[in-house]
Amino acid sequence: MKVGFVGAGKVGCSLGKFFACGGIPVTGYFSRRRESSKEAALFTGTKEYTEIGCLIRDSDAVFLTVPDGAIFSVYKELGKSDISEKILCHCSGVLTAAEAFPDIARRGAYGYSIHPLIPVSSKVSSYRELAGAFFCIEGEGPHLSLWKNLLECLGARARVLRACDKVRYHAACAISSNLMCALIWESTELLKGCGFSEKEALEALAPLMRANLEHLIASGPVDALTGAVERGDADTVQRHLDCLESREEKEFYRLASKKLLEIAALKNPLRDYTELEKLLKREKSPGENENVK
Ligand SMILES: NC(=O)c1ccc[n+]([C@@H]2O[C@H](COP(=O)([O-])OP(=O)(O)OC[C@H]3O[C@@H](n4cnc5c(N)ncnc54)[C@H](OP(=O)(O)O)[C@@H]3O)[C@@H](O)[C@H]2O)c1
Repeated sequence: MKVGFVGAGKVGCSLGKFFACGGIPVTGYFSRRRESSKEAALFTGTKEYTEIGCLIRDSDAVFLTVPDGAIFSVYKELGKSDISEKILCHCSGVLTAAEAFPDIARRGAYGYSIHPLIPVSSKVSSYRELAGAFFCIEGEGPHLSLWKNLLECLGARARVLRACDKVRYHAACAISSNLMCALIWESTELLKGCGFSEKEALEALAPLMRANLEHLIASGPVDALTGAVERGDADTVQRHLDCLESREEKEFYRLASKKLLEIAALKNPLRDYTELEKLLKREKSPGENENVK
């Protein structure tokens, strides 16, 4: 199967290099700017295309590795080309294949979404991380197991996902990556309030964050949970809430702690968490004054 790319950005260059290094024939690149296609072709030892139709003609499968908002318009542009029996793929985590390529079956072609569950930050070095990455594949048609096997042969892991689970899947990815940034931001801001610079705060927290993350990955959240909520230490939780300045910060802490309480109850089914439950249920803790920021 010969694979081509429309969109010579981070994912296009990385996947193309990953495929080429693994012995999958890559035809080449068509991109919005000619210098991008040229660079990607040089990097992967493939061809630069100046006509999208020629790339389609020469490829069996074409990845539309353009930003999510451009996938549908690029697909529409392909209306002028014969795509029958071609395999079209996109790499969006949130869009399904049917959303991106709505009438693909009528056009005699097949559509898939193939999402690498990894941050792809560089056009030239991220391809090295794809072998250890996890891919989620979704779409209608006979090639689901072909993609799964191909990715697994290249050293990656792959799983087929139902279209109806795609948004839930993407929300899960966002929670464990983007939402983590919100937690770390809150934590470093508190340390800045104790006189730390951001760099010092991150360096001080690094061993705690790393050890916790490793434990979480190895044993899961129930086993990894420690701290005041897990101990049922309502006094400490109350003192944390009291020291937080704004209503939003208190709400943030309270909501996250309520979730921890659910996990703690699973970990210690015989422990009495009533006091903590009452404290976290309250809209406001005693001492939280009305004029709080
Ligand atoms: N980066 C990640 O961490 C990551 C991870 C998983 C999935 N994804 C998905 O991968 C896809 C690509 O993301 P990316 O990070 O690679 O984006 P990117 O680095 O911004 O690359 C997108 C490329 O698309 C090209 N492009 C834009 N509009 C085009 C058009 N109308 N026709 C042809 N080419 C066009 C741009 O080309 P020019 O350079 O020619 O202007 C750009 O190089 C997205 O669906 C994204 O959700 C990204």
